[in-house]
Amino acid sequence: MNPAPNLILIGPMGAGKTCIGRRLAERFTLDFIDVDQAIVESAGASIPTLFELAGEAGFRQHERQVLQRLMAGRGQLVSTGGGAVLDAGNREAIARNGFVVYLRVSVQAQLERLARDKGRPLLQRPDREQVLQDLAFQRDPLYRQLADLTLDTDPYTATEATSHLVVRL
Ligand code: S3P
Repeated sequence: MNPAPNLILIGPMGAGKTCIGRRLAERFTLDFIDVDQAIVESAGASIPTLFELAGEAGFRQHERQVLQRLMAGRGQLVSTGGGAVLDAGNREAIARNGFVVYLRVSVQAQLERLARDKGRPLLQRPDREQVLQDLAFQRDPLYRQLADLTLDTDPYTATEATSHLVVRL
């Protein structure tokens, strides 16, 4: 395994960061940390409630604080939210504190995987496909720029994707 202090998963909603992250953490005996979950615990409110009360900007502020605090830790598998890479300070903290794995997913696969999802405020609109395309256009270059390793998750279950990563890490 790479000697970087943490293993950090980046990528869009529906790429499987949480499911794959849990499996990888177990495989490499790392502490699993989900940044969204840490935000919910620190703010005492769900992600949809945070968006409702503080808007996306308020949510991003929580995300920045929590992510940068977590990056001080070591021996962790950190699963980030899809928009964490939007902030330059977050990108710098991610790059400095871990080996970064970009879990890629196509918009088509996202639509299938997230068809019944109610927990992601950015997707609670009728034009989901357009939203996901716009996010991919904006964020894919940022994910690529940060990635030490990229895996296209479209053809795989979480278990299969984990096996592919284990041999490459
Ligand atoms: C977001 C992704 C979500 C969550 C929030 C915003 C985004 O995390 O942080 O709903 O901007 O793409 P996941 O990528 O874990 O779904």
